[in-house]
Amino acid sequence: MGRERIRKAVIPAAGFGTRMLPATKAQPKEMLPLVDKPAIQYVVEEAVNAGLEEICIIIGKGKGSIEEHFAPSPDLERFLLEKGKEDLLREVRRVSELARIRFLLQPEPRGLGDAVLQARSFVGDEPFAVLLGDDILVGPVPPMTEVIRAARERGGSAVLLQRVPREETVRYGIVAGTEAVPGLYHLTRLVEKPSPETAPSDLAIIGRYVLQPEVFELLEEVKGDRSGEIQLTPALEGLARNRDVWGVLLNGRRMDSGTKLGYLKATVELALGREDLGSEFADYLGEILKEYRRGGFEPS
Ligand code: UTP
Repeated sequence: MGRERIRKAVIPAAGFGTRMLPATKAQPKEMLPLVDKPAIQYVVEEAVNAGLEEICIIIGKGKGSIEEHFAPSPDLERFLLEKGKEDLLREVRRVSELARIRFLLQPEPRGLGDAVLQARSFVGDEPFAVLLGDDILVGPVPPMTEVIRAARERGGSAVLLQRVPREETVRYGIVAGTEAVPGLYHLTRLVEKPSPETAPSDLAIIGRYVLQPEVFELLEEVKGDRSGEIQLTPALEGLARNRDVWGVLLNGRRMDSGTKLGYLKATVELALGREDLGSEFADYLGEILKEYRRGGFEPS
């Protein structure tokens, strides 16, 4: 038990993305580009790098562009071939060959818990990974890999954690637990969006999980919250009552590309990390920041 290989990943990407309106009026936030790739491609690549072989993306109505992005594009490929643009052709083909990806519809965005529940038949009776389609993580070790390692070595489920300022606990699932070894917590409580006064800690659950399949039965029982959303955290609390749930502290940085500031941070970090762009972009940022701080900055 608990040593089973984790092969499947569920990527919920069916939310309305209201915090990025109007950009998300006619396109999913997961398809907004970060440098030259849509956000969700970074997430799929992280899943593939963590050894996950079968991927299921939960999409909503009007999110067909996500499906199209990961499908072969014969016309485009022919065009690139004719123009001799082999580098781009390789890149385009690589996207459609990244993994075996299946798409499932969440008929209405009724919450993250409801989105995960759509993947029940895809997952079957084995532990599986969940990666949120808009959480971009950078760090020395791929975070999904770390969460999978914790679940396999310790048994049970595991979630990724990050410390957040106390006043922000209302935006996250917050946990309580004991630190087993530095950076690894054995969780006893998982509470959705507590106020700063009642939050059991400042450790927030962020978008990477390994869950045992019992989570589906628990999700069936979760009632809508104040805004009618079926959340994932109450089912995780249920998991923790019967089996171990581990919390892995993020070793790196997280950008929520579904918020304006998070989107900007993700763009800057990913661009600075690029071999082909990083140093020129850093020079540019240095220049405009100097100007901005002198007060003479004129946005174009
Ligand atoms: P968020 O809460 O960040 O997404 O959910 P949202 O609801 O689209 O955002 P706002 O608040 O309106 O701006 C985290 C992840 O879960 C997915 C989202 O697509 C996102 O990747 N999600 C959320 C679903 O798949 N279905 C839902 O019903 C809700």
